[in-house]
Amino acid sequence: MYLIGNWKMTGDRAFVSSYIGDVVGAAKDLGVCEQHDVVLCPPSVWLSDAFTAMTNSLVKLGAQDCHDQEKGAYTGNVAAAMLKEVGCEYVIVGHSERREYHGEDDALVAAKVAAAYKADVQPVLCVGESQAQRESGEYLDVVQRQIAAVLAENTDTSKEMIIAYEPIWAIGTGLVPSVGDIDEVCSAIHAQLASAGFAKVAVLYGGSVKAGNCDEIFAINSVNGVLVGGASVDLQQWTAIMKAATTA
Ligand code: PGA
Repeated sequence: MYLIGNWKMTGDRAFVSSYIGDVVGAAKDLGVCEQHDVVLCPPSVWLSDAFTAMTNSLVKLGAQDCHDQEKGAYTGNVAAAMLKEVGCEYVIVGHSERREYHGEDDALVAAKVAAAYKADVQPVLCVGESQAQRESGEYLDVVQRQIAAVLAENTDTSKEMIIAYEPIWAIGTGLVPSVGDIDEVCSAIHAQLASAGFAKVAVLYGGSVKAGNCDEIFAINSVNGVLVGGASVDLQQWTAIMKAATTA
């Protein structure tokens, strides 16, 4: 499974080294990295510090976003190749907060996924419906449309596809869909990727994952891991999630 921590805009410089030191220690004690991929995604300005703090561990580094172009006059942006150079193996792409606050549409997200693959950084594509789309019953259409846009631009089926299903209404709210609802969408995502010819696929769930609910989420067959926000920057929570994964 994948256990991916999305720190969002959290943590000062001192936190990065002390917290990652603690996570590395806990992960070693649990032996979790021998079983699962544990990935931490701190803010981009701390990626180098984070990489240093992970030295001699099996914990991996990810970023929260990349630009869709390789280089150029894009003030404030970071290219996927730059992430690669500072040690990132993964990059989150199309998070709902990027879609909402930075106006990222499906076409741009598809281009970012392509840019990540080109730089040899594994994209973690986020998809998910709003509360209104859940209530109107169009959630599957929404998620499948978001994925279809990415598949249209990314046709190399030898690549691994990691998709995080994150219902927007579950992010940071404490609300979590039922096990059946998570399974319905994650199974549909597996089916969509299989029919597109992708064999290496991981479907993660994200949205208010915590120590108290991760056991039942790990037990869902169609779920291959979790993308965790708030609980990934809380040592007790994150350690409990890593521990639960070792017995899942
Ligand atoms: P949350 O965030 O775990 O705090 O709900 C998840 C995410 O946004 O990836």
